[in-house]
Amino acid sequence: MQRLSIHGGVPLSGEVRVAGAKNAALPILAAALLTPEPMRITNVPELNDVRTMIALLERMGVAVRREAHAVELDAGRVAEPFAPYELVKTMRASILALGPLTARFGEARVSLPGGCAIGERPVDLHIRGLEAMGAKVAIESGYIHASASRLKGARISMNTVTVTGTENLMMAACLADGRTVLENAAREPEVVDLARCLVAMGARIRGQGGDVIEIEGVERLSGAEHSVMPDRIEAGTFLAAAAATRGDVTLTHAPLGSLDAVVDKLREAGARVEAQGDAIRLRMGERPKAVSLRTAPYPGFPTDMQAQFIALNAVAEGTAFVTETIFENRFMHVQELRRLGAHVEIEGNTAVVHGVERLAGATVMATDLRASASLVIAALVAEGETLIDRIYHLDRGYEHIEARLAQLGARIARVS
Ligand code: EPZ
Repeated sequence: MQRLSIHGGVPLSGEVRVAGAKNAALPILAAALLTPEPMRITNVPELNDVRTMIALLERMGVAVRREAHAVELDAGRVAEPFAPYELVKTMRASILALGPLTARFGEARVSLPGGCAIGERPVDLHIRGLEAMGAKVAIESGYIHASASRLKGARISMNTVTVTGTENLMMAACLADGRTVLENAAREPEVVDLARCLVAMGARIRGQGGDVIEIEGVERLSGAEHSVMPDRIEAGTFLAAAAATRGDVTLTHAPLGSLDAVVDKLREAGARVEAQGDAIRLRMGERPKAVSLRTAPYPGFPTDMQAQFIALNAVAEGTAFVTETIFENRFMHVQELRRLGAHVEIEGNTAVVHGVERLAGATVMATDLRASASLVIAALVAEGETLIDRIYHLDRGYEHIEARLAQLGARIARVS
């Protein structure tokens, strides 16, 4: 079992390149199922979740060739449109195969994603949307069986904003007969990046980035080359770490324009944040001020940055109220942060964070991807050594995290 050892107290400084976005790369890899022609995807992050998605596609018969940060895929001969439980249970985003398989092959058998640490995370909206397009969907022994001779365009109104739900249905609609209108669609930049890739493949899509997306189905999609957008959550995580350690950090290849809500909160905490070309620079001279926030679908404050801001608020001046509105159980980092000396109370879906002068290193345990990021941030500030267990969670979403933090001056090492 690997763990991270961090000796805190060093202000981060220097420059780091933002990797490709995990939550754009995953649906874009799945989009390769929509065409028999080869695809080339670049700026792909080297993450465990990407390796899992590639393993899933290969298991279906997609030919995949990996270079560093680039993937070539050929779904000309998919043997079986099947996503098995043992892969889906390790990564919920496997559900993104459901729409493309049903649309191109007329059938799909995809394991229901298991539960997840941060919440129940149903996929009912994915299924209802496919049914609205004419698919027959049955749930049998833990698998979603979808079949349709050819999907038909439909008007689909989703009662909850769902990112992968929007992505699944947008991909399926590309090959449906007629027009599909997705209402209350997710506006996340990753949805827009996927749409950019689909349009390059010949799809006809309008309104992406807004809450109504219209797709005119076509007979067939062609291959394309696409470069994945930079990861706004990874970028936000590095900025929060720079602010918490009172450092001076520049991010290159940064996703300007998709971090406004996060940058606004960092400025409110007292950080100086400047955009310089495709780079973002953050300087924090003094102790951060407490900042309250509520998570919300894009362009609101991202739920994937909530845990990182609880770590930042843990050492801030004042009391912050952090409300999680998307997931029902996304405060598991709090009990671990308390072990480092944080003063946090949970009241329903709000964490009340009373900033303290200093944290003290301890052994803590990662519970999910972004929770582990918040433990890293707290450890970078805490005095003495912090050991973080179960860092496989971290490796799912952050590329070579300790090497890149060490590049910024952090005293961090992976130990077995
Ligand atoms: C995506 O998950 C991201 N994952 C998550 O990032 C992110 O936290 C989440 O969007 C919210 O921004 C990927 O893009 C791969 P949802 P997703 O469907 O799409 C409810 C990370 O850290 N819902 O937007 O699975 C659901 O219960 C991960 O990188 C339904 O009710 O999340 C939740 O309350 C964690 N029915 C809300 O919508 C459905 O059919 C948002 O879930 C689908 C969702």
